[in-house]
Amino acid sequence: MYRSYTCGELRLTDAGKNVTLAGWVQRTRKMGGMTFVDLRDRYGITQLVFDENTNAELCEQANKLGREFVIQIKGTVNERYSKNANMPTGDIEIIVSELKVLNASLVPPFTIEDNTDGGDDLRMKYRYLDLRRQCVRQNLELRHKMAFEVRSYLDKQGFLEVETPVLIGSTPEGARDFVVPSRMNQGQFYALPQSPQTLKQLLMVAGFDRYFQIVKCFRDEDLRADRQPEFTQIDCEMSFVEQEDIITLFEGMAKHLFKTIRNIEIKEAFPRMTWHDAMKYYGSDKPDLRFEMKFVELMDILKGYGFSVFDGAEYIGGICAKGAASYTRKQIDQLTDFVKRPQIGAKGLVYARVEADGTVKSSVDKFYSQEVLQKMKEAFAAETGDLILILCGDDTMKTRKQLCELRLEMAQQLGLRDKNKFACLWVVDFPMYEWSEEEGRLMAMHHPFTSPKPEDVPLLDTDPASVRANAYDMVINGVEVGGGSIRIHDSELQAKIFKILGFTPEKAEEQFGFLMNAFQYGAPPHGGLAYGLDRWVSLFAGLDSIRDCIAFPKNNSGRDVMLDAPGNLAQEQLDELGLKIVVK
Ligand code: AMO
Repeated sequence: MYRSYTCGELRLTDAGKNVTLAGWVQRTRKMGGMTFVDLRDRYGITQLVFDENTNAELCEQANKLGREFVIQIKGTVNERYSKNANMPTGDIEIIVSELKVLNASLVPPFTIEDNTDGGDDLRMKYRYLDLRRQCVRQNLELRHKMAFEVRSYLDKQGFLEVETPVLIGSTPEGARDFVVPSRMNQGQFYALPQSPQTLKQLLMVAGFDRYFQIVKCFRDEDLRADRQPEFTQIDCEMSFVEQEDIITLFEGMAKHLFKTIRNIEIKEAFPRMTWHDAMKYYGSDKPDLRFEMKFVELMDILKGYGFSVFDGAEYIGGICAKGAASYTRKQIDQLTDFVKRPQIGAKGLVYARVEADGTVKSSVDKFYSQEVLQKMKEAFAAETGDLILILCGDDTMKTRKQLCELRLEMAQQLGLRDKNKFACLWVVDFPMYEWSEEEGRLMAMHHPFTSPKPEDVPLLDTDPASVRANAYDMVINGVEVGGGSIRIHDSELQAKIFKILGFTPEKAEEQFGFLMNAFQYGAPPHGGLAYGLDRWVSLFAGLDSIRDCIAFPKNNSGRDVMLDAPGNLAQEQLDELGLKIVVK
């Protein structure tokens, strides 16, 4: 028997017991004639004591232990003289009588502690050591618990977990595919699923009624803090449902997770906002509603007073930062630099302070009378001590996005993005299409299988860009944690949508013939949703990046630095696959 207890288990009530423990040496400390060793495993840390006076040879052995050695000890549980209230095992220590080194260790390249001295790259290269740190392991424990609660909730609701294949065909919509060459079908490629979208719809045609899968998805897109090239979805689909049924069921699941994981009881229904309003008032389809700072449009108030920048703008809008009138000139200059950064692209920033006497002082005072400025103050419902920040531009959508960045930055600076506060929201009524500058055509905003709102179907022929979809996203604290839609189940309507998206009938048949065929064999009305598991876990763990809740993540260049992947293939492998590398 390697151990009778784990390193996180023993308490004062166990005093006097003879125990066997095994684990890693976190650190050793020599104090006078005593050597103390912190022994660590997944469950915690237990202090071991070696006494030179009672067993000099054993103590000598303990002094030779290096960090991360794997050892086994036998000893007696003893009440500690100086207790450590910060540790669950802090009331006891083990007086060691036998020590066995199970495996030695090289000196680890960084300290295996929450406050490690290791930088990002080093920790990723030695991720198996990084994972020994409690703060990292806890994220994976949370992930396990969340996946468990998801399964438990969905199982109770009658969902079946069905596995779908990972080697599938390439689909041209959405992000870029990761592709896998086929040896048996030379010159042909599988693609890894960006999501099991079409497969789950086929399971509805097959009559499975309620499907789910906690599933790896693969997208070859640029990485950000909330994006990884492979990530995990909680993917769901249901038959004979409308949008309301899906929203109810998955809001229920969100509340279940809040309750079981964070012990937060949410009684009221999540608010809903149309996509149109989200863009108008927050400049984003995933507004962070932990704080207000709603956009106020100022075209009517500020145009026509000879300030050419505003007079020539298509959009003028601003936010009111409560209590920020104390911002110094330097701080405002920094905000101006922030919005002028190339990634944001605003030309400048106009500001106005509400003074103690209620008057408004602005950076463009010479163009505006106090009367006009007071009207502006009213539009924001601004009060003494508030700071109004205004952007303008000749493209409404672009300017709103810039204002969105400013809103988030201001909230950050004012400490309003509290990680322990959660603001949940459904964004509904997404447009079916968005114009792609790159492709010069309409693209599906969600995916090509999303159904239009029945009342908007006639617009498909006349004004497709204005058609709204039966699509919805769940947003928490400005993060899109999930999204879905009611699908098209009619092969004719599906063919029409493909046509609007620029597919010839032949191309649509080649890409999606299997689905359109299936729809001719009694496809039920259906719809679904997928939550991003990684994003849920990082929200609940308060992480800045989803990378921290993934055991072996990729870095920003899409590399696994530990496995050194992607890598080259041997010439024989390339030959076998019929591939030739052309260096660009
Ligand atoms: P969508 O593309 O919106 O929908 O994805 C669903 C959810 O998956 C998460 N997500 C990601 N998480 C981490 N890294 C990524 N690169 C990444 N991309 C997406 C997000 C997102 O809300 N098949 C549809 C769902 C449906 O219609 O049922 C789909 O994939 O949290």
